[in-house]
Amino acid sequence: NGYAVAVVGATGAVGTKMIKMLETADFPIKEVKFLASKRSAGKTVSFKDQTMTIEETTPESFEGIDIALFSAGGEVSKKFAPEAVKRGAIVIDNTSAYRMDPEVPLVVPEVNEAALKENKGIIANPNCSTIQMMVALEPIRRKFGLKRVIVSTYQAVSGAGNEAVKEMNEQAQKMLDEESIEAAILPVSGDKKHFPIAFNVLPQIDVFAEEGYTKEEWKMTNETKKIMGDPQIKVSATCVRVPVASGHSESIYIEVENEEAASVEAMRDVLRNAPGVVLMDDVADQVYPTPLEAKDKKETFVGRIRKDLDAKDGYHLWVVSDNLLKGAAWNSVQIAERLHHLNMVKSEATK
Ligand code: A2P
Repeated sequence: NGYAVAVVGATGAVGTKMIKMLETADFPIKEVKFLASKRSAGKTVSFKDQTMTIEETTPESFEGIDIALFSAGGEVSKKFAPEAVKRGAIVIDNTSAYRMDPEVPLVVPEVNEAALKENKGIIANPNCSTIQMMVALEPIRRKFGLKRVIVSTYQAVSGAGNEAVKEMNEQAQKMLDEESIEAAILPVSGDKKHFPIAFNVLPQIDVFAEEGYTKEEWKMTNETKKIMGDPQIKVSATCVRVPVASGHSESIYIEVENEEAASVEAMRDVLRNAPGVVLMDDVADQVYPTPLEAKDKKETFVGRIRKDLDAKDGYHLWVVSDNLLKGAAWNSVQIAERLHHLNMVKSEATK
């Protein structure tokens, strides 16, 4: 007994982590199906102590599937998520394909689990940078109110996929060997120009859109308003790629509504008890989070909380999380866990 679970994009940076997260998920699994493109059909991956064969994704792949986790790019989600829903599956989509669709809940369980109830078959997983910012800021918003957010990100290369990590490693080796280097993927595989990421910093993630902001930056603005359910919150982002394999870091400036109630100590108290948050904030002892330390952890780590030197309602925070886990695979599997506990997975097997 249990659910039949499919992972689409099972060979990718996020998909492989989804498989890992499913191994310890707290719901019963009777069957797994690992899907990718035709190129990967026949490759094997391990799940618990079994060896599983990757299959090509087709509409029929979703026959009998109860939960389908997608992370194979927006186009694949647009093509196959409706096919999965048609066949009775509930889809948790890690791409940006459905995030801003008013019919689709955009969920970070620590923040807006109640939105799951409005799903019509598809639930969207927010952008990795947005998720960790929401986990850190929602407890502050609930306690002190939140007027404004200005965020600069330091994003890991794995967010752009396995091939991008490979490109960084090869460039790094060549630079150390004093050979000439090439760039073919970053900042964005689909854009006109490419720049090296090894020993470099790229102020472009995704393509440029309105007002000189990139799509990644717009995602942080729009998704924050949707997840927090408050279109009035002002959010501006600068998203930057750094030569880190995994773990996104963020420097976040916020302005709170209730400046009388807020203080650095009060903020630390709130975050110490917040779900999914680990407070690492003691500069006297050099305690603050870094991406290497956050690797393979499900939590969001917060440190460097301090008052702005000028604005009475302003505070600064440093927020770090594993972009492949809370930013993607873990948030998706966590949504599946919540759906199970809320009795919202339609499964003949468990009815
Ligand atoms: P494949 O390995 O067969 O290309 P990443 O985010 O690391 O770049 O991974 C992208 C994931 O999406 C991979 O698992 C990749 O599978 C999968 N994928 C890419 N194109 C398709 C497609 N047309 N149908 C199904 N899966 C796809």
